Amino acid sequence: MQSNGCGQNAETRQIRLNAFDMACVGHIQHGMWTHPRDRSSRYNSLDYWVALAKLLEKGLFDGLFLADILGVYDVYGGSPAPSLRGAVQIPLIDPLALVPAMAHATNHLGFGVTCNLAYEPPFLFARRMATLDHLTGGRIGWNIVTGYLDSAARAMGLAGQMAHDDRYDLADEYMQAVYQLWEGGWRDDAVIRDRTAGVYTDPTRVRAVHHHGKQFNIDAVPLWEPSPQRTPVLYQAGASDRGRAFAARHAECVFLYGSTHANVRRIVSDLRARAAPRPMQAFVSCSVVTGRTEREARDMLEDYRSHANREGALAHAGASLGIDFARFDMDEPVDGRGSQAIQSNIEAIAAALGQGWTKRQLLDRFVLGSRQPPIVGSPEQIADALMLWMNEGDIDGFNLSRTVMPECLETFIELVVPVLQERGVYKTGYTDGTYRQKLFGAGDRLPDTHPAAAARWTD
Ligand SMILES: Cc1cc2nc3c(=O)[nH]c(=O)nc-3n(C[C@H](O)[C@H](O)[C@H](O)COP(=O)(O)O)c2cc1C
Repeated sequence: MQSNGCGQNAETRQIRLNAFDMACVGHIQHGMWTHPRDRSSRYNSLDYWVALAKLLEKGLFDGLFLADILGVYDVYGGSPAPSLRGAVQIPLIDPLALVPAMAHATNHLGFGVTCNLAYEPPFLFARRMATLDHLTGGRIGWNIVTGYLDSAARAMGLAGQMAHDDRYDLADEYMQAVYQLWEGGWRDDAVIRDRTAGVYTDPTRVRAVHHHGKQFNIDAVPLWEPSPQRTPVLYQAGASDRGRAFAARHAECVFLYGSTHANVRRIVSDLRARAAPRPMQAFVSCSVVTGRTEREARDMLEDYRSHANREGALAHAGASLGIDFARFDMDEPVDGRGSQAIQSNIEAIAAALGQGWTKRQLLDRFVLGSRQPPIVGSPEQIADALMLWMNEGDIDGFNLSRTVMPECLETFIELVVPVLQERGVYKTGYTDGTYRQKLFGAGDRLPDTHPAAAARWTD
């Protein structure tokens, strides 16, 4: 019997669900915004996000996972035009700014937000996350990324991004710095709020943090008082060899591209072995099209498919994989070696399509405008497929990417969630506690086996 280290066995494991979204119009399944019922072009209004958060909480989702990038997709044909035309992750606003309003409208939903550490001093970032941990009552998570876009590096005034493995070295040092800022500056009992004595904080229980490394120098007293989780729940989504070493050291949850069961199982087992004895939860991205019957789902797929944007999908894939597909003939094997973008995505495509895969094969996969073909079927068939993924991929749950919004989530919650609940693989209510407590069933804080614990002020 398999165990994920969180006390759950594969046969009885509860499916964790995050909605996978981004503060933009076209996220993964490109072209869906052209569907007459889609509302994603309201991404720049709080009403839209608050309604989404409430919907997800109604469906007992564990979290809303928000992706983010800092540069335009301009690899395909060397131009941003296809992305702009197709709203391929542009226009895009800042995901962190959406969180307080959504948190205010909900009580349990977690927020896993992608933030790129490559361009921001650790102190400023640590304060912003601590603020959100306070304002959400301990419901904030961070998807640690270093970016994969030269366009983002140029936007920050650099000639280009750092090389793939160097970015992870930078991230390792960044983590050491933010752990100290989150965990090491204030003792748990530093804030006493003694009105009689006129002492808000006991100065003997607050100290400066000192970090002197290759990239960062910090001598600072963190300005914020201890927040419920201190360090946000840590997600990571790189799965190259260097990426796995990083994830095994830092991440509590990993987010993997859903290629094949066997490929995901291999990566997850390697990650868990490297992270042990710390538990590690694995989420796979997937997209679902369902209806009351299989026939209804297939009709829905055809309706959605007529809105898919293949050019947009190529623009997205080209930037993620670091390959300009405009330079390849339809049947020419695509060579992704030397890419400085997402290496694990290249491996995932090769796992799904075979070595020597071609642009034509990739285009055939673009059913709804992305590399990720949807799971299509009746609610029971969807439940079967998700449970098969759980067992064969040895995962903990899914990041569910959207199609036509918000009906894809409304339909999932109305039709699929009850089937999962009947089968005993999905919760029927939330437990109390912070995001970390809900996910791992333990404390608010990172376990003592996590490297962040070394930064704590324990004496
Ligand atoms: C499923 C998945 C989702 C990702 N989402 C983002 C994202 O939203 N923003 C971002 O900058 N990088 C994202 N990445 C990139 C990774 O975080 C990673 O830092 C980087 O690309 C290197 O990954 P590698 O180790 O797989 O090569 C994602 C990667 C994967 C596999």
